[in-house]
Amino acid sequence: MELKVDYRDGIDSWKEVTLIYSAALRQIETKLEILNDEFQHVHLYNPIEHIKSRIKTPESIVKKLKRGGYESTIDNMIKYVNDIAGIRIICSFTSDIYRLAEMIGTQKDIRVVKVKDYITYPKASGYKSYHLIVTVPVYLSDRMIEDTKVEIQIRTVAMDFWASLEHKIHYKFEGDAPEYIRNELVECAKMVTDLDARMLKLNDEVSAISRERNM
Ligand code: GTP
Ligand code: MG
Repeated sequence: MELKVDYRDGIDSWKEVTLIYSAALRQIETKLEILNDEFQHVHLYNPIEHIKSRIKTPESIVKKLKRGGYESTIDNMIKYVNDIAGIRIICSFTSDIYRLAEMIGTQKDIRVVKVKDYITYPKASGYKSYHLIVTVPVYLSDRMIEDTKVEIQIRTVAMDFWASLEHKIHYKFEGDAPEYIRNELVECAKMVTDLDARMLKLNDEVSAISRERNM
């Protein structure tokens, strides 16, 4: 049976959107688990602490489309909202982030369409994370949906801790937090950067000693 290649016009209901994007999420999650297992096998440790994934709520998709000046149609969702499906990968060390991003990039059926490195270039808020927009093909019984977009955010435990609190504060003040709070968040972000660097150095030193002593 020949598969019909479907770009977007075959997806005609929210239920179908959910089905397709959940399938895309699951595929990527499985790939990440395999990469993590392989990494454990070769390097004797797991680069991934944990993974969280979610499908954006219809309300939040509609809000985003409205912000962009687009009508709320299924077509516009698929075309303009890059984060209907989102995966967050939490790592221990900054070096793991780049390793994982590279591993994702070399997967044959994942296409990286956009990269934002907020680790090398943090946002003014202090936000740090590595973002990828990737696409994967999703195979259904009678057709293949090409280029299903998934947003992947990769960050350390410390960056995640910071981002969670900042998100809560941002939400509470509807994006207009008092200046001293914003400044304090920027200061905390610097501490996160420092902590991540020191923890990585410490881990490298321990690894070197372990190697020396054959531990
Ligand atoms: P949207 O904010 O989703 O419209 O994204 P964008 O197209 O501007 O992309 P960007 O890569 O900047 O942000 C994508 C996602 O990253 C957001 O939806 C958040 O989950 C996260 N993010 C970006 N900036 C911040 C920030 O300053 N603080 C926190 N807590 N999260 C952020
Ligand atoms: Mg988003």
